[in-house]
Amino acid sequence: MDFNLKPSLTDLLAVASSMEPADGLAYFSNLFPNKVTFSSSFSEEDQVITHTILDKRLNIEIFTLDTGRIFPETYSVWSRTNERYNTTIRAYFPNDASIEKYVNKKGPNAFYNSVADRKACCFIRKVEPLHRALKGKSIWVTGLRTEHSPERKNLEVVEWDEANSIIKYNPLLHFTTETVKEIIKKNSIPYNSLHDKGFVSIGCAPCTRAIVAGEDFRAGRWWWEDSSKKECGLHAR
Ligand code: ADX
Ligand code: SF4
Repeated sequence: MDFNLKPSLTDLLAVASSMEPADGLAYFSNLFPNKVTFSSSFSEEDQVITHTILDKRLNIEIFTLDTGRIFPETYSVWSRTNERYNTTIRAYFPNDASIEKYVNKKGPNAFYNSVADRKACCFIRKVEPLHRALKGKSIWVTGLRTEHSPERKNLEVVEWDEANSIIKYNPLLHFTTETVKEIIKKNSIPYNSLHDKGFVSIGCAPCTRAIVAGEDFRAGRWWWEDSSKKECGLHAR
């Protein structure tokens, strides 16, 4: 990015923080034509962002990382979203040679063996495809929210993502779950039916379980691991 021509990160943070998500998304898509991309896992917050982008016909690409291990319910909301908005959300898949090598060497469920094996699976199925998805883009839109975890409390609406050398925009960062659910209901936005069964943060099927009242939002992700290790490498926090 040429900071002589474009606003600095501090400028972008100041501007975007004062805007509603729909205005912020429109602002970035106009400032960086064809260079804004949104990663969706089809979570409730992601569906709100997808709705905004497609309803307002914003020039923002939407993609998902299909790890090959996501829930049938996630494929269902993906399919219903394509139909509802007459769109095709783009999929990035793991590199076939890498995942074949990993599974043939370690087995299909090696992520339960150790944190290292789990992170290796996340790298092949999510992180490397993400690098490809973000290549050539200037802005990466995410559905990150501060409510997700204590580590996400200190995130900013606009941040520099060192791992991918890209500006990250988190438009719903300060939205509550309640507000997100209200927007979904009000606009009849398709959502993952697992949210009605106690699932809050939803990732791959073998690595996600429902949570019970009082548990941390991310308690259902990689629940067998020490909580300090519970990131897959997509986000630093
Ligand atoms: S993760 O780091 O634990 O996997 P989380 O599920 O909290 O992430 O989701 C946070 C944001 O990361 C989502 O709003 C979305 O922008 C992005 N994300 C997570 N998983 C995927 C995925 N499979 N495909 C695309 N984006 C994803
Ligand atoms: Fe592999 Fe589980 Fe990570 Fe999905 S969440 S990529 S199945 S380790």
